[in-house]
Amino acid sequence: MIPDSFIQELLYRIDVVDLIDAYVPLKKAGANFAACCPFHSEKSPSFTVSPSKQFYHCFGCGAHGTAIGFVMEYTGVGFVEAIRELAARVGLPLPDQPSLTAQSEPPSRALSALMARAAKFYYEQLKASEKAVSYLKARGVRGEIARRFGLGYAPEGWQNLAVAFDDYADRDLQLAGLVVRNEQGRLYDRFRDRVMFPIVNQKGEVIAFGGRVLEQGEPKYLNSPETPLFEKGREVFGLPQARAAIRESGVAIVVEGYMDVIALAEHGVGNAIATLGTATTPTHVQKLLRQAERLVFCFDGDAAGRKAAWRALENSLEALPEQKSIGFAFLPDGEDPDSFVRQRGSEGFQRLLAEAMPLSDFLLRELAGRCDLGTAEGRARLVSESKPLLGRLRAPLLRLQLVKRLTEASGFSQAEVERLCELRPVARPAPARVPRQAPSLLRPLLRLLLQKPQLASRLPLELLPDDSAESRAVRLLCDTIGVGEAATLAYPTLLEKLRGNEYEQLLQTAAAELMQQPFAESEIDDEFAGTLKQLAGSEQRRAFARLQEKIQRLGVKGLSSEEKEQYLQVLAARERGQPCP
Ligand code: UTP
Ligand code: MN
Repeated sequence: MIPDSFIQELLYRIDVVDLIDAYVPLKKAGANFAACCPFHSEKSPSFTVSPSKQFYHCFGCGAHGTAIGFVMEYTGVGFVEAIRELAARVGLPLPDQPSLTAQSEPPSRALSALMARAAKFYYEQLKASEKAVSYLKARGVRGEIARRFGLGYAPEGWQNLAVAFDDYADRDLQLAGLVVRNEQGRLYDRFRDRVMFPIVNQKGEVIAFGGRVLEQGEPKYLNSPETPLFEKGREVFGLPQARAAIRESGVAIVVEGYMDVIALAEHGVGNAIATLGTATTPTHVQKLLRQAERLVFCFDGDAAGRKAAWRALENSLEALPEQKSIGFAFLPDGEDPDSFVRQRGSEGFQRLLAEAMPLSDFLLRELAGRCDLGTAEGRARLVSESKPLLGRLRAPLLRLQLVKRLTEASGFSQAEVERLCELRPVARPAPARVPRQAPSLLRPLLRLLLQKPQLASRLPLELLPDDSAESRAVRLLCDTIGVGEAATLAYPTLLEKLRGNEYEQLLQTAAAELMQQPFAESEIDDEFAGTLKQLAGSEQRRAFARLQEKIQRLGVKGLSSEEKEQYLQVLAARERGQPCP
């Protein structure tokens, strides 16, 4: 665990505006700063950064976070790595934490410098190797594209990297996966006589390589092992190169191979990226859907390709937000995107994309293929096979759409499908008796507390209804703020504390609203007093409703004398023409 106090100090020292501005040039917009969102494609800026509260929020896609969150989202690193980066940036020494300063892991900065040098070496070697150049030429790769992807060549021989590095025995070279030590302790280059494809992260750092044999040989592609820089399920090949085209078109095309990406780029289809010889993971999908409105998986039409597509589907369900879409394009048997685009050009490929199967079609078609819909058992099986998949979907409308399709295909009623799949109805009916707190009251309260944390100590918590997410969020916020004089709250610290918490979203929304419309300093205390009054009123209304419900159930005899007194008071107030408080 990294101590909260360290995170607080770090967030205090960093200006989120400066930080983000270095990646995404910001323009002043009223009290805030704005830019076109780096996490989704848009034409007018809805990405907003608050200098006073030190967070960013995109009113288009909902991206939201602190300086730490920004580094994680933008550069794709994990929490600890983001902390390291930011600490280095402001020169804050890391606390003595194994997770931060682990001796076995040198700062990844050093490793990425080694990778950059290796990439440069391979790049130069390509120019010097007639054999490798003619291999790429024969595959139709022009010099311009080779440069754009930083392609290189690892020459034949066992210790070529000794030329590029002063200390070939440097352990970091092994950690970076460039040099291997065999059982006898002898060191040799991992990549030999291979065309090299550098895998570059969103910061533009080379974090791994894939190397292809020129002729026949096993394995066809040799990839870097997992290293402190490189985590396979997170990374894709070609993202920095595809970024602009993805932003422009709103679509990211997911293919399987390095050469598929290259060939597509060669034909003007710049928005393709490749997973790295692994199945598509939820992290991949999440990462890509931050930048694209739509993903199209483009796999081979053969059995292996369909299987890969199915796994991609399974791993996309939970990462798919409502307003985004996923499609599946299948190539003719025996083709891959590389061979296909070379034959039919970008137009042919675009047509293939346009005909991509929607996720719901693909899902139903695959499941229907496993069940005999001609029989009642088969139709029941269709529904039971859908169950785990529907359960993973987070997008309620998409889920509903699928339920309807299943209803048609299975002959069960919608309610039966929902019950069989154990789906909670999408819109939960409000509890029948105790009237729920109108959310409109607690939202402003959240905003008030976020803007002026000292108010927390003046909030009687017993006035909060206990049945809503909003009121749980208010309680949590008050707990985090603390009490008395010490009651302060730096919003970014709160956000970091709440990372992954179920109320994160509510508080983010409140902060975003506050960003657009902060309370005037002169009005904030009155606002708060007004809200308290309303809260007290609704608590009394709820109490009254509880009493009435009890009377209906048990008759007046069921009330204690105290309750009777309370009930009479409210009635009397009504008689006097005062609205039920
Ligand atoms: P393919 O075998 O389909 O190769 O592997 P390809 O992309 O068509 O390659 P070319 O056209 O023959 O050059 C698809 C992807 O699977 C991973 C690589 O990422 C490759 O691009 N792979 C494949 C490996 O990691 N290792 C292998 O030995 C083979
Ligand atoms: Mn191929």
